[in-house]
Amino acid sequence: MTPEETTVVLGIPIPSRSPIFLSAVALHVLVGLVCVVTGAIAMLSPKRRGRHPTFGTIYYWGLVFVFVSATGLSAVRWAEDYHLFILGLLAFIAASLGRAARRRRWRGWVRLHITGMGLSYILLLTAFYVDNGRSLPLWKELPAIAYWLLPAATGLPLIIRALLRHPLARRCAHRLVLGAVIAGIGVSTPMRCESIM
Ligand code: HEM
Repeated sequence: MTPEETTVVLGIPIPSRSPIFLSAVALHVLVGLVCVVTGAIAMLSPKRRGRHPTFGTIYYWGLVFVFVSATGLSAVRWAEDYHLFILGLLAFIAASLGRAARRRRWRGWVRLHITGMGLSYILLLTAFYVDNGRSLPLWKELPAIAYWLLPAATGLPLIIRALLRHPLARRCAHRLVLGAVIAGIGVSTPMRCESIM
């Protein structure tokens, strides 16, 4: 890529001078930032009506937009960007499963929801760092493999901790075990955790 084909914004080289590509990147970055902020707020908010579902919904639809825009951007430079498309697709699938588990009250939905939404956030950050890590202060000192591994190395222990320790996940797990035991001795019982939230 020659410098004539690059536009530098805030120190990040964008591999194009086309106004259409640059506008698409600008929107993509804006909504990407919205996802980073709203996803963090949703994760840190009390898990009840109000802030958690509101910011979680903004996060989900922002992620859908980021996935769609990333697909368009990847298509233009497929050889260089197909790995970003795959990360975006996986993030979209994980968030959609996490959201569906909650909305349709799938059996064990709390754990599926935590895992799906958490993985989507890790994949979102991974795509961002893989694409931009080498242009970011501090990050550019790290080897490229760190861009792939650090978001998961930080996020997976937090997901596992939430699965083991969060009161909702524990309550739901207890009900499933209790339901299975009661079902085993022939008493019918609701197996789902729909009464939560
Ligand atoms: C699912 C998550 C994401 C995917 C799959 C994705 C994918 C992409 C793709 C394919 C490009 C074009 C890259 C190129 O042609 O060189 C791009 C550019 C960019 N993205 Fe993302 N992105 C994601 C999330 C984010 C987030 C969360 C941010 C910001 C917080 C962000 C910021 C940027 C920036 C600054 C660029 C311009 C740099 C460049 O063109 O290389 N992205 N992204």
